Amino acid sequence: MIRRKNGRVNWAEPSSRSRRRHSVRSSRRTLEPRRRKNRRRIKSRVATPLIVPRSETAEPGAALPAKSRITLKVNGAEKQLEVAPWTTLLDALREQLGLTGTKKGCDHGQCGACTVLVNGKRINSCLALAIMKDGAEITTIEGLADGDMLHALQKAFIEHDAFQCGYCTPGQICSALGLIKEGKVKTSDDIRELMSGNICRCGAYPNIVAAIEEAMRAEHGTERHE
Ligand code: FES
Ligand code: FES
Repeated sequence: MIRRKNGRVNWAEPSSRSRRRHSVRSSRRTLEPRRRKNRRRIKSRVATPLIVPRSETAEPGAALPAKSRITLKVNGAEKQLEVAPWTTLLDALREQLGLTGTKKGCDHGQCGACTVLVNGKRINSCLALAIMKDGAEITTIEGLADGDMLHALQKAFIEHDAFQCGYCTPGQICSALGLIKEGKVKTSDDIRELMSGNICRCGAYPNIVAAIEEAMRAEHGTERHE
């Protein structure tokens, strides 16, 4: 910067005020185009939402998709149901068949409270559409006991005090049954790892692991359901 002093030209350091003005101007020069570009990008995203509400896509007065008739073999008994395309297996079991032993926790596949066996494999029933399981064999917690005789896993859970509120317990037991059928468990760490999809908010984990180990030792419980 040039300053005139006593009629002489003098090179001097720019004042802090002019330095500030200069840096604001230059940052505006570099930031403005970037800001404009970002604004354009955001606008284009807002203009094309990923999920379009059904009310905007459906013809006015269009009928909802029809319900479908399906057959499920639940705990050994054949059941005919009418389900909407979006009905989950969990809702079909709880609301249509009255099997409320299977619990709804998160309804998002995060907690395992809704675990049931489908054709012998454990799944989160909140993530499965009932219509996709047409003809499948389903085992829920209600199907484990043989009359008054509890399943080995149910007995072990009681003996080891493996629950507190009990909300997660049906899912824990069904999951443990699926785990035992998978035959991958060698150590108690394997049990912890392979049961990690079943959350217990009461923190009864040590007792749950002990109960599963006990049920694995009493093999008659697993043989009965193979
Ligand atoms: S309710 Fe299905 S995983 Fe939580
Ligand atoms: S016993 Fe309460 S959540 Fe598991």
